[in-house]
Amino acid sequence: TETALRVESPPTSASAYDLSNAPTEHQGLLAWVAEVAELTQPDAIHWVDGSDAEYKLLTDELIAGGTLVRLNDEKKPNSFWARTDPSDVARVEQRTFICSIDEADAGPTNNWMAPAEMKALMTELYRGSMRGRTLYVVPFCMGPLTAEKPMFGVEITDSAYVVASMRIMARTGSEVLQKMGTDAKYVPCLHSVGAPLAPGQKDVPWPCNDEKYIVQFPEERTIWSYGSGYGGNSLLGKKCYSLRIASAMARDEGWLAEHMLILKLISPEKKVHYIAAAFPSACGKTNLAMLDPTLEGWEVETLGDDIAWMRFGEDGRLYAVNPEFGLFGVAPGTGWKTNPNAMRTIEKGNSLFTNVALTDDGDVWWEGYSQTPPNHLTDWKGREWTPESGELSSHPNSRFCTPIKQCPIIADEYEDPNGVPISAIIFGGRRATTVPLVTQSRDWDHGVFMGATLSSETTAAAVGEVGVVRRDPMAMLPFLGYNAGDYLNHWLTVGKEHAADKLPKIFYVNWFRKDEAGKFVWPGFSENGRVLKWIIERLDGTADAVETPIGLVPAADALDVTGLDLSLEALQVALNVDEEEWKAELPLIEEWFTKLGDKVPATLKLELDNLKARLG
Ligand code: GTP
Ligand code: MN
Ligand code: MN
Repeated sequence: TETALRVESPPTSASAYDLSNAPTEHQGLLAWVAEVAELTQPDAIHWVDGSDAEYKLLTDELIAGGTLVRLNDEKKPNSFWARTDPSDVARVEQRTFICSIDEADAGPTNNWMAPAEMKALMTELYRGSMRGRTLYVVPFCMGPLTAEKPMFGVEITDSAYVVASMRIMARTGSEVLQKMGTDAKYVPCLHSVGAPLAPGQKDVPWPCNDEKYIVQFPEERTIWSYGSGYGGNSLLGKKCYSLRIASAMARDEGWLAEHMLILKLISPEKKVHYIAAAFPSACGKTNLAMLDPTLEGWEVETLGDDIAWMRFGEDGRLYAVNPEFGLFGVAPGTGWKTNPNAMRTIEKGNSLFTNVALTDDGDVWWEGYSQTPPNHLTDWKGREWTPESGELSSHPNSRFCTPIKQCPIIADEYEDPNGVPISAIIFGGRRATTVPLVTQSRDWDHGVFMGATLSSETTAAAVGEVGVVRRDPMAMLPFLGYNAGDYLNHWLTVGKEHAADKLPKIFYVNWFRKDEAGKFVWPGFSENGRVLKWIIERLDGTADAVETPIGLVPAADALDVTGLDLSLEALQVALNVDEEEWKAELPLIEEWFTKLGDKVPATLKLELDNLKARLG
């Protein structure tokens, strides 16, 4: 228990940290924990067991410290409201580094520093950084523990908020530690908020540091994070491990680690298809993953909303597993109209809400939660809020963190360590112009070209300007653990090495096209099931498409719009391929390929030449 391991005063030597009662005999892990403790000088070491009693203890402590507020049990049972420091609200891409041995391996899209230099710098930051705090050891597993080769990690953190969130987002605790035995390999993940406390110094509700580093060492499969408590920067099993480090593993081992949702689509004839889709942050993955289709007879079940690990099976098909255990979803815009299944999931409680607003009766609220806002709220900065305030009550990147198994439409296959065979891969982004509602690629290479040139307007999910169009290959720009050119080449190799008829077919969607008045032309959300239907019918060869310079788009009457309140004119705008708009796109794609440098695969340059030729 915590008290048994608590030491009276900050120790002066390594020997002061007594690990003899640690619940593991994994010598490598024990040595690492001792080394980190010696460096960071915590007041206590706590091995996280993942029990309910422990969770109660942690959340009680967080409430006492002002980090969490317990919500009304009748509204959101066993749930909490958290507010961050207003400066610590999103991923910090400028402070994210891929520290490969060779700079070229980080590529032109990542920040880089030599590993030794970064380690020297961060070691000084970590020195004494946990003074006055508890060092938590969080053993975790990404993907089912029943996997043939479970993907272990251990996060050391000085943030109880991180421990509480990790419990929702990953399989954590004693069961994992036990399964690790005495010699399992794991990804060491070191996190500190970088806010040591002097003796007697009062803590703040959200400790963090202005200096932030989110660092991946891809060859060592190691993660060091410092200065931020925000989920994307501090829950190291998620973006850091399951995308940045895992993408490097996947390159070495012939699989794919992608920023993709996984869904199961059931047709009225009860035919089942599994679909994976990659959209940049805050562009609709969580929404599509939990789709509640308006189309009669069609059903969706959820497998994952953010990350897919995909490996080829013996039958030559691509199988996807969701490595995560929870949902870390964008709150604003999530409501009974847009995403009823997400609402049903969070209603069951056991959730952490960060940077949303608090209602007077102890519930949460955010823009889009309901049509009419309550008359009074406490906003994400802790201030009084009324509809007249003229400010958002919730940060645009506020999040709900909820166990995925609470989702009422979770698929049974979710726990299958072998995953589900993917029939279609969808790429997409947020574009007000140019990009039609849905396009099918001609073949795998053309689909890779579509993914490689994916473009989207930036959102609040990362610090920086919002609404700027940028290229985001396979929606992985912020999450690539290695050179983007090598990554695209890996996608092409995967296509070459497997039978074309077994490979998923690749599509591209855009829910976000606007009309001249600036309104979305496509209703989106539940209506996106109509696009999924067309995609499935294309796989079955039963839906019509027209050839355009950019790929195959639905023929005029091929998209099922039965019962949809949408003018023919609006539909045409949604589906339109305007050659002039696409000609204007070409220099942007060229600029992007130039930025990527010599590693852009020749196959993709050829695809660009072909596109140019088709546009005349
Ligand atoms: P990350 O979790 O950050 O990776 O993002 P995500 O891809 O899961 O995004 P999410 O599903 O949370 O959607 C983000 C925003 O896009 C929300 O404000 C949604 O309301 C909005 N959105 C999602 N789907 C649609 C759609 O079909 N049409 C429109 N107009 N907006 C959508
Ligand atoms: Mn994401
Ligand atoms: Mn999401």
